[in-house]
This record gives sequence, C-alpha cells and structure tokens, in this order.
Amino acid sequence: MCGLVAPLLILLVGGTEAFRICAFNAHRLTLAKVTKDSVMDTLVQILARCDIMVLQEVVDSSQNTVPFLLQKLKRSDKTKILNFYQYNDTDDIFAREPFVAQFTLPSKVLPSVVLVPLHTTPKDVEKELNALYHVFLDVSQRWQNENVILLGDFNADCASLSKKRLNSLLLRTNAGFHWVIPDGEDTTVRASTNCTYDRIVMHGQGCQRLLKAAATFDFPKRFQLTEEEALRISDHYPVEVELSQATQGIPPQCLAILLLSLLQSQLD
Ligand SMILES: *[C@@H]1O[C@H](CO)[C@@H](O)[C@H](O)[C@H]1NC(C)=O
Ligand SMILES: *[C@@H]1O[C@H](CO)[C@@H](O)[C@H](O)[C@H]1NC(C)=O
Repeated sequence: MCGLVAPLLILLVGGTEAFRICAFNAHRLTLAKVTKDSVMDTLVQILARCDIMVLQEVVDSSQNTVPFLLQKLKRSDKTKILNFYQYNDTDDIFAREPFVAQFTLPSKVLPSVVLVPLHTTPKDVEKELNALYHVFLDVSQRWQNENVILLGDFNADCASLSKKRLNSLLLRTNAGFHWVIPDGEDTTVRASTNCTYDRIVMHGQGCQRLLKAAATFDFPKRFQLTEEEALRISDHYPVEVELSQATQGIPPQCLAILLLSLLQSQLD
C-alpha cells in the first residue's frame, strides 16, 4: 500500500526547488560598478539564483554596495544565520581571514551547514589552502558540526598552483573532503584562459548526501553576452552547489500508513 503512496509524497516534496549555495568572485565590485545599467540587472539575476551567495572581491570602503544589492534582491527566507566569526589568524597566513558562518538548511536530514569562504592571494595559494584545513578543524570543533562547505576563489590552478602541489594539499590528502568542482572545469570568462580557480569542497556525510549538482554558472551563455560585455561583470564564473531540500528516508505520513496497515493485518 505504501508503495502507492510514497511516489506521490516524493513528488510533493521533491518537486520543490533545490537549495543553492554559490560563490562568486565579482571582480572589484564597487558601488559605481553595480549602479551601471549594464552590470546591475545581470548581477542581480546571478545573485537571485542563490539561497546563499558568497560574494568575493567587494572593494568598497563606503560599505554601501552590498546593502544596495540586497535592496534590489527579493530576500530569501529559506535560511538563517545561526552564528559566525572571523578566523583568528594569529600567524598571519591569510591575506583575507576567512569569515566563517553557520546557516540553517530547509532539510530534516541536515538542519545546518557551516560555510568557510576563502579568496586566496595568488602568490600564497598553497600556504593559505593548507591553513584552510586548520580553519576547518577550528570551526567543526567549535560548533560540533562536521558538515562544512569550503568555497570561493582558491586560485587553485594554472600558474598559481601546480597539479602536484594541488594533489598534496591537506584538503586533498585527508579523507572526507569532496572537491565537487572538478579539476579541468573552466571557471574563467575569457576564452583565452582555462583554469579551475573557483572551487567548492564539501565535508560531512549529511552534506554530501544532499548534493544534487555542482557546476559553474556560465552567465555569458545564459544571458547571451559577448566576452566584452561579460567582463564588465566579472572575469570569473560563479560556482554553485544544489542541495536537495526533500526529507529522505520514509516520509512520516507513509510511516503512519505503514503502521496502520501493520496493525490492521494483526487485527484481521
Ligand atoms: C587570537 O589569538 C591570540 C593568541 O592565541 C590571542 O592573544 C588573541 O586575543 C586572539 N584574538 C581574538 C580576537 O580572539
Ligand atoms: C579546459 O581544459 C580541460 C582539460 O584540462 C578540458 O577538458 C576542457 O574542455 C577545457 N575547457 C574549455 C572551456 O576549453
């Protein structure tokens, strides 16, 4: 009996949109840049795809750029920030200390996930990415949460990081880290470049079980922009993961029906 009910429930639950987490190096993002007509509409459409967006390379001492963008966006209420801190970089390894945050997820399987963003400086990629492993240890211990997504412009390719050094990173040699934007995936806009600079690395069973898709978002193609037009927005593509929102396992309604039919068969 439940065999009939279950597909229906999956349709109801599984038909909803996935939960999308993104990182985007928006190339020297200033208020002057975002208020340009040629930038604003496309940028807002790129941001609006995501339930959580890690927006990198905002260069704005006035601190008006992000509030301006938020005003243009329909706010998503699918998540809340539970807690956050900036990593205490006592050895001064990072050019930009990771700002770590824990978010709620609309999933019963996994109620929260930790995001660890990083934008490395090209000359210290290996050192910073190895230090990122220690940020992972710090945050997963502090919040007792092993479900962590590390993401952003890692500069983890081409002249900034050789294949050999990439493969000897702590985040590669330690088990449990899943690099979901694969090596060889071009995250750069220019036709003349092909580098996997931008990355998403997932840790934790719960988190990986919800993974539906991971990809770059080729916004020039989607919005039919020439390379020159696209470069007004950024020289990077956003990278994105889609997490399932559906509860997995046996839905509770189905479980109730199953119990009822069991009870009935015993009464019969
Ligand atoms: C960072 O760590 C150092 C050394 O452990 C400590 O002296 C300092 O107070 C810490 N800073 C913050 C903001 O926690
Ligand atoms: C980039 O290079 C990889 C091989 O490293 C190749 O598989 C891929 O097709 C290239 N992408 C583009 C857009 O040229």
